[in-house]
Amino acid sequence: MRIIFFAGKGGFGKTSVAAATGIKVAEMGQRTVIMSLDVAHSLSDIFDLDRSLLDQNKGRPAKVSKNLWIQEVDIQEEVEKNWGEIYKYITTLLNTTGLDEILAEELAILPGMEEVSLLLYINHYVKRKEYDVIILDCAPTGESLRFISIPTALEWYIKKIFKMERTIIRYVRPIAKRLYDVPLPGDDYFDAIEYLFERLKGVDELLVDPEITTVRLIANPEKVVLKETQRAFMYFSLYKMNIDAIIMNRILPDDVNDSYFQDWRESQKKYMERAEEYFNPVPIFPVNLFRSEVLGYDSLKALSKEIYGARNPLERFFEGEPYNIVKENGEYRLTMKLPFVTKEDVELNKLSDELIVRVGGFKRHLLLPRQVAASKSVKARLDGQHLCIHFRGDDHDQGEG
Ligand SMILES: Nc1ncnc2c1ncn2[C@@H]1O[C@H](COP(=O)(O)OP(=O)(O)O)[C@@H](O)[C@H]1O
Ligand SMILES: [Mg+2]
Repeated sequence: MRIIFFAGKGGFGKTSVAAATGIKVAEMGQRTVIMSLDVAHSLSDIFDLDRSLLDQNKGRPAKVSKNLWIQEVDIQEEVEKNWGEIYKYITTLLNTTGLDEILAEELAILPGMEEVSLLLYINHYVKRKEYDVIILDCAPTGESLRFISIPTALEWYIKKIFKMERTIIRYVRPIAKRLYDVPLPGDDYFDAIEYLFERLKGVDELLVDPEITTVRLIANPEKVVLKETQRAFMYFSLYKMNIDAIIMNRILPDDVNDSYFQDWRESQKKYMERAEEYFNPVPIFPVNLFRSEVLGYDSLKALSKEIYGARNPLERFFEGEPYNIVKENGEYRLTMKLPFVTKEDVELNKLSDELIVRVGGFKRHLLLPRQVAASKSVKARLDGQHLCIHFRGDDHDQGEG
């Protein structure tokens, strides 16, 4: 069983690389499904397929070749199917505030609901052993990645609050009905939450198991794209998901000598080097810009060759945590492995939300989570092969490491 996430800013080849990977592993004999969660679905377009094939399937997997299925998840349908009663209740609630019905329906789609549908599918496919490989073409990044923590949050809610809330509401409902206009959730609502939770159980363990799940980030050697990739890198790391490759797509090939592209070539070279500092020790796979748009099976197959060469895409190209952040006694502690450091060597620089670590000729840029970036004091200490960096928020600490 293998699950591979393809994530990144969007527009630089997420869908293409996900599709190319799917083609390669399906040809190796693995039953593979490529799922897309991007609202602007382009999976069928990139395979150059007739849309009607997918429309007939209504968001279910459609077979495109031997061992290969693609699935464009229909968000509205999923929300109604999985969130049914919950969605209905929130809509009614919003409706009683005087909101227009259509607007209420729209607002009732809470952030994360769509992604939960995806998690439900993953869990379902894994439990039923329907596929050997699940490939995910994620929605463009940003903080939407928070969905990874939904199963944990839901578990906490169910254990700590849910049962109590349910009991209280049972007693309060008859009285509340007479006093307020606001409807209280009924049994259907609570049943729906319980059922949803039941079906999500275990999916978080699948996602953080590096033997099963890895994440590949699709980027391009440009400043803005790299910044967003760093952010995704940080989020996936925080959620303890294993990032095993950075795919640098659409690089100008060496034999493009046209002077018009001179500046592009130089800046791409510069940002390729910068990318090493950002993502090391996770390997970077460079992929050249093709002569034309990547479209159709053969072109995708050529892309998979360009990405992986002789490597097996199911391999885990990197294992381990590039860095680790924990909160303890009110301070944040970031740990990373630097096998060759000595104390004199380490130099730290914090520039707004970025931390730059220099050790001799080695340089690492780390984008920090917002709360950590707000810390006023930064101190480093060596612990064997690990560099521990302490961030403190309070003003009493004057230290600067
Ligand atoms: N290496 C490449 N060479 C040429 N065109 C590419 C390459 N990778 C992707 N493309 C093209 O770039 C466009 C965006 O790719 P796509 O996979 O849709 O990106 P995303 O899913 O990240 O938005 C598509 O037209 C695709 O064919
Ligand atoms: Mg896409």
